[in-house]
Amino acid sequence: MNERVVIVSGGSRGLGQGIVEALIARGDRVATFSRTRTAFVDGLIERCPERFYWAAVDASDGAQLKAFVTDVYRRFGGIHGLVNNAGVSADQLIAMTTDEEIDRLLDVNLKSVLRLTRDVSRVMMRQKHGSIVTISSIIGTRGFKGAAVYAATKAALDGMTRSVARELGPKAIRVNSIAPGFLETDMTAGIPEAQRAQILRRTPLGRFGGVAEVAALVLFLLGDEAAFITGQTITADGGLTC
Ligand SMILES: NC(=O)c1ccc[n+]([C@@H]2O[C@H](COP(=O)([O-])OP(=O)(O)OC[C@H]3O[C@@H](n4cnc5c(N)ncnc54)[C@H](OP(=O)(O)O)[C@@H]3O)[C@@H](O)[C@H]2O)c1
Repeated sequence: MNERVVIVSGGSRGLGQGIVEALIARGDRVATFSRTRTAFVDGLIERCPERFYWAAVDASDGAQLKAFVTDVYRRFGGIHGLVNNAGVSADQLIAMTTDEEIDRLLDVNLKSVLRLTRDVSRVMMRQKHGSIVTISSIIGTRGFKGAAVYAATKAALDGMTRSVARELGPKAIRVNSIAPGFLETDMTAGIPEAQRAQILRRTPLGRFGGVAEVAALVLFLLGDEAAFITGQTITADGGLTC
């Protein structure tokens, strides 16, 4: 497992960037995708062309996802880890939510994860080895005003995790999810000041999380240190839900 190949969805910025950075620092080979190429992606392509691969993929397009997995397998000769990280949020009361918005969140946050997990699991089943980590959210279990569709997708990911863990355990493939609380990324940048202050008051550690803190948990779950852990959702939220 020293020369692992890990796919990370949405590794161009935010939490995905933190996960890619941590994996590259560990010595892994990392393949990631997003719709937009960022300065972070440009820098890694230049610095580590043999160990880093990025492609423009829209996660809501199943054919693009499948082609990406095939491409990564051909390029690196195996896939040991999958981190389902890409996701989008929306701030909209349920009564105001359009069909288009429901479809957009289900496509990116849920259907793409099911498809990517299916496509990668076929490779891992042949290898009889692998670890899958999916980023859900505490909002999936605790709810948040204005996040009904987002919460529905994240709760579904935890359900998927438990079912797939049962299916793939006999093939030595572990499947877990991480439910972060509020992190300092683009996704939370628009939270109004009053709401941010309320979240901080309710968080025992009194701050939002850093992406490196969740990335460290991802690396733990991917690795052999977590060899007996599967089907679990681990919360990292500064104590907000305790
Ligand atoms: N930030 C938080 O407080 C928090 C808390 C709990 C859980 N999470 C979860 O953590 C994950 C990462 O969140 P984040 O805060 O890092 O978000 P972010 O800063 O908005 O980054 C999202 C990443 O996903 C990619 N992405 C979004 N839609 C995509 C699509 N259709 N196709 C391909 N890539 C797509 C983005 O790239 P492009 O836009 O260029 O495609 C970007 O790389 C998400 O699943 C989120 O739900 C975040």
